[in-house]
Amino acid sequence: MCFYPPRPQSPLTNASLSTDRELARYAARFVRRRAFDASARSHLPSHDTLLAEDSVSHAHQPGESTARPVPVPRRSTLTPDYQRDWPEYFNAVKDQPPRDTCLRALAAFKQDPRPQLLAIDIACGEGRDTRAILAADPRWRVISTDSSADGLRRLRESLTSDFAVRTQLTNVDMESLPAWATANNITTADFINASFALPFCNPTHFPALWTWITRTLRPQGRFAGQFFGDRDEWACVRPKSHYTRAQLDTLLADWHIEHLEEVEKEGSDAMGGTKWHHVFHVVAQKRA
Ligand SMILES: C[S@@+](CC[C@H](N)C(=O)[O-])C[C@H]1O[C@@H](n2cnc3c(N)ncnc32)[C@H](O)[C@@H]1O
Repeated sequence: MCFYPPRPQSPLTNASLSTDRELARYAARFVRRRAFDASARSHLPSHDTLLAEDSVSHAHQPGESTARPVPVPRRSTLTPDYQRDWPEYFNAVKDQPPRDTCLRALAAFKQDPRPQLLAIDIACGEGRDTRAILAADPRWRVISTDSSADGLRRLRESLTSDFAVRTQLTNVDMESLPAWATANNITTADFINASFALPFCNPTHFPALWTWITRTLRPQGRFAGQFFGDRDEWACVRPKSHYTRAQLDTLLADWHIEHLEEVEKEGSDAMGGTKWHHVFHVVAQKRA
């Protein structure tokens, strides 16, 4: 975890700050932010603050400069191995609505004539999206996966019997998901949802996971989810889990992009603090 700020950079040029006055101003700002974080942590986040977590406060406009430096890391609620206290996170986001990316994908499936549809909800957490998929249409069955048994328990307890019979809960980590799917004869899916999930995959295993997602979706199937950007405050913890816009474009080059929103904003980290977010929200269709 980055407990200390990296060598400060000029906001405009990324050049190292050199004068004593620049360094003093920088240090004062860092101390003020640490103090703010400590006081913020003593309060539970308000409902409005939590809702703001996913809202758009700044989306890049065409032609707008993206020359923003990697922000100074502050108190992070990430562990050094890029995990969080997930039960605490589930408490904090309890009763939050489904992710916009998931809802957009579901809306796009409305015209699909198939009598049955299969979704895989990767790292489903306590299940806000799984419940939305099940509620969207009785044709949906969902395989909901997560490495957290606690998240899956919360999801199971939230399901009505109608939803439960269409849901398979699987305690498997993303890194093992391709092997698990092969062993369980899961060869194709209509929809793969991964809301705020893929950044938590060990980067060494990410290429295999992405290949599996691409292979498993049937032609015209959809992926929905988030990627964290390189200017996100958590980039210092595990840079390889963060993508530049160019890297994301390369990853999605063969897909039909239905929705791509790049958001940069100061906002809640959902667990009582604030952080600088840089997130790509994606809904993409596999080409026929
Ligand atoms: C930010 S939460 C997102 C949960 C849910 N998709 C949502 O949008 O609310 C990230 C989820 O990833 C899960 N997770 C973290 N690392 C994982 C891994 N390596 N494999 C599978 N799940 C993982 C956590 O347990 C947690 O439920």
